[in-house]
Amino acid sequence: MSNYHIKHLEEYFQVYRKSVRDPEAFWEEIAEEHFSWRKKWDRVLRWDFSKPEVAWFEGARLNITENCLDRHLATQGEKTAILFEPNDPGEQAQHITYRQLHERVCRMANVLKEQGISKGDRVCIYLPMIPELAVAVLACARLGAIHSVVFAGFSSNALATRINDCQCKMVITSDGSIRGSKTLDLKAIVDAALESCPGVERVLLVKRTGGEVTLVPGRDTWLQPLLDGASPACEAEVMDAEDPLFILYTSGSTGKPKGMVHTCGGYMVYTAYTFKNIFQYRDGDVYWCTADIGWITGHSYIVYGPLANGATTVLFEGVPTYPDHGRFWKVVEKHRVTQFYTAPTAIRALARESLEYVEQYDLSSLKVLGSVGEPINEEAWHWYNNNVGKGKSPIVDTWWQTETGGIMISPIPFVTPTTPTYATLPFIGVQPALMDDEGNEIKGNQVSGRLCIKFPWPSMARTIWGDHQRYHDTYFSTFKNNYFTGDGALRDAVGYYRITGRVDDVIIVSGHNLGTAPIEDSINEHPAVAESAIVGFPHEIKGNALYGFVILKETGEGRDRENLRREINQQITEQIGPIAKLDKIQFVPGLPKTRSGKIMRRILRKIACRDTADLGDISTLLNPEVVQEIMDESL
Ligand code: PRX
Repeated sequence: MSNYHIKHLEEYFQVYRKSVRDPEAFWEEIAEEHFSWRKKWDRVLRWDFSKPEVAWFEGARLNITENCLDRHLATQGEKTAILFEPNDPGEQAQHITYRQLHERVCRMANVLKEQGISKGDRVCIYLPMIPELAVAVLACARLGAIHSVVFAGFSSNALATRINDCQCKMVITSDGSIRGSKTLDLKAIVDAALESCPGVERVLLVKRTGGEVTLVPGRDTWLQPLLDGASPACEAEVMDAEDPLFILYTSGSTGKPKGMVHTCGGYMVYTAYTFKNIFQYRDGDVYWCTADIGWITGHSYIVYGPLANGATTVLFEGVPTYPDHGRFWKVVEKHRVTQFYTAPTAIRALARESLEYVEQYDLSSLKVLGSVGEPINEEAWHWYNNNVGKGKSPIVDTWWQTETGGIMISPIPFVTPTTPTYATLPFIGVQPALMDDEGNEIKGNQVSGRLCIKFPWPSMARTIWGDHQRYHDTYFSTFKNNYFTGDGALRDAVGYYRITGRVDDVIIVSGHNLGTAPIEDSINEHPAVAESAIVGFPHEIKGNALYGFVILKETGEGRDRENLRREINQQITEQIGPIAKLDKIQFVPGLPKTRSGKIMRRILRKIACRDTADLGDISTLLNPEVVQEIMDESL
């Protein structure tokens, strides 16, 4: 029996039991048999969730790029590693073989070295979805530099916060990005950000749009001439399994974004193993994940997981709606894609359009469909299943988080029978638990509670960059000796999990994790605003949209409301990015508060969702009268 590739349900249960009974023996076997290590570990796992401290494969030495690139050269150097599909369907796709990718990564690593980057340095990567993004990520990993990819839709303010938080020395960016019919001047955004980032010494620029840019002498350099002059060979830095591989920021329910730190060994083992099983990847398959590498899904399941398995991974620059709503399906047909992994928000947007966009393409190559980032509603599930999968390609509804590094709860296609809206069973080695409000584990089936994980898994984040206390407080203090996910879930009669949504102040909009606090901070900085509160409400395409309740200062009272709404959204766009814009803004005389001054979001949420039949007991509020006023004026 190969524990590495699970093929039927009985085998899943067998392997699962083994992985839980003796996790160390289980993961040791996987790590030993399927990866190349410069030196094996002294110990498989050391952990203590109370600190929290977790170390996998301690003492082992490796470089993840040797696993993702070098080791494939002997047997499949000419196989396509990255299949780049540009935004413009008229521009030719690029097939980058493992040998070519290896060479490009080595050249880039040599350039970074010449520009002063060495092991442990932080490098910010702010690039569109072009091959250089994957190359830059891998080049950092080759040198042991810690990459911090920032999604190229974040504003200059958000970028600056992330650059400063982990003190990046370098930024790799491009003249611009092209997505759909829009171009974005990324260099200008970087220039604005760097006005407040004194630690950045170098900016390396990829040419993509050909737009005009101004180079800051001594700081900015075009990358291509440097790459042309660099050696195509670069010795990989030998890393400890527990050395940081990358930092990736995620929103918190309070304060500034959290720089989740992932390490080399465990992350590699877990992303590769989950990729192989959850997408049932076989030699010759063409796998496509439509996420952006700026998010964890792209890190784990466009770059590291697929490449560690020697897979062909599609890298798509564009958007699902350009040049028309059939683009995804056109690309599936063109490249004979076998596994397709996307977000419910994209499915919902495409499901609104004519079926002709799907039906005109030959989708017979598809074997497995994936969903990630937010709950997939029943309607979207059926549309995806019927029209894309034609009822024959299982949908893997994969639940996981930036913090978990890899997929945690998911069906294994052709193994786990699927049920719409259920992420189904824990993946091998994952030990979920549901907790009640008192912190006790709820055993048995047909129960719901707060979703925790009881035992470490190899790809879990090890800390928050520069703030281990916050890591402890956010994830390990609510439920003793458990990792708390922030999500609620139910477990049905057969033990399947269904994720019911966030139970904290994070709202998932179009699959993007948004904390309410930073958005409120940004609104409150508007000179006419006194206070604000954000809640989520259901939205047909985005899943959730944002509803803002805003109290104006006296000076704002006389102002035109529509103008104010525009200014508030402009402010959010500048400080965070357009993804955090509010769909509705209601100006209110006050916000419902408890006697201790805490905003009662529960009530606001009900008003925003037009679910006001039962508001619960509001008599204990400091200002119960304001509730009726808000309801009367609700949008
Ligand atoms: O609330 C869950 C939701 O997305 C959150 C994690 O967001 P992020 O760190 O940005 O990572 C997204 C990609 C892995 C989770 O706490 N979420 C993610 N996948 C699902 C989901 N909710 C329901 N079903 C899912 N499949």
